[in-house]
Amino acid sequence: MRGQPTNGGARPRFLMCRPQYYAVSYSINPWMDPQDWASAERDLWGMADRQWGAFHDTLIDKGASIEFVDPKPDLPDLVFTANAAIVLDGKALLSRFRHPERKREEPVFAGTFDALQAQAHLAEVEELPGNIVLEGAGDCIWDAHRRQFWMGCGQRSDRAASDVVADQFGVECVALELASASFYHLDTAFCALPTGDVTYYPSAFTEEALRAIEERVEPAHRVALDHDEAAQFSANAVSFDHCLVLSSCTDAFRHKVEERGFTVLTTPLGAFLRSGGSACCLTLRLDHRSEEKSGGESYPRANV
Ligand code: ARG
Repeated sequence: MRGQPTNGGARPRFLMCRPQYYAVSYSINPWMDPQDWASAERDLWGMADRQWGAFHDTLIDKGASIEFVDPKPDLPDLVFTANAAIVLDGKALLSRFRHPERKREEPVFAGTFDALQAQAHLAEVEELPGNIVLEGAGDCIWDAHRRQFWMGCGQRSDRAASDVVADQFGVECVALELASASFYHLDTAFCALPTGDVTYYPSAFTEEALRAIEERVEPAHRVALDHDEAAQFSANAVSFDHCLVLSSCTDAFRHKVEERGFTVLTTPLGAFLRSGGSACCLTLRLDHRSEEKSGGESYPRANV
């Protein structure tokens, strides 16, 4: 039934931004080629608009509710709301961006979060101290099973940010150093499912980071992506209500995820891959809680 949660609990709430001014007009990661974009701009913009619409409708069909950031001219990456902030227990920690091209989004996101607080969707909005750089939930992923954050560092976000996250939210935050410029945010190569399973692309991580993952995630819960799966951004997925929503994947990946109790829903987002983004990047979950609530989603707790 359209718009009805099937888990008997609260509707998952996301923040999204319509792609009205989306474009690839600068390059801050290896996927972005402004000349290539400019050569077919009209068609690509039309494709982005249709793909974003279908993705949004898929989330609504599965029972999500969506809040919006107002699109702004000259801020083409504002669509990637995963980078706006980290949100847990009604508290938002606003991002600070590495590149000047995206720093210009900071006041827009700050205004959006003030409005969300005024509408009682959030209780608190905090800023990062000093000069610490942390690009929001794109680099800081809530693991609802282990009740901890995983934080990517070394490409966009500072390692020191993990202590700030742990202090602010009172939960563990495990820093994982990213080894590849193509997988520059943690969510491009890592997804924590509510069952305790983790999908990840091992080549995106340093040896030390891989050890940190392997220490905390037992072998049966690890779903390693191969190069082809990683290059489709299959790890960049949104999971709720026993579904995993992503742009595309191989049959092998689909099978591994379905075996773990999820339905895989694909909705093509190739126009956003041209900016180095996909499903997870286009959303920010606003309702994650550190404590399990009765009536919430129930998944068997694995022994990890
Ligand atoms: N072009 C954007 C950037 O390089 C893409 C951001 C994708 N967001 C994400 N959460 N991975 O910053």
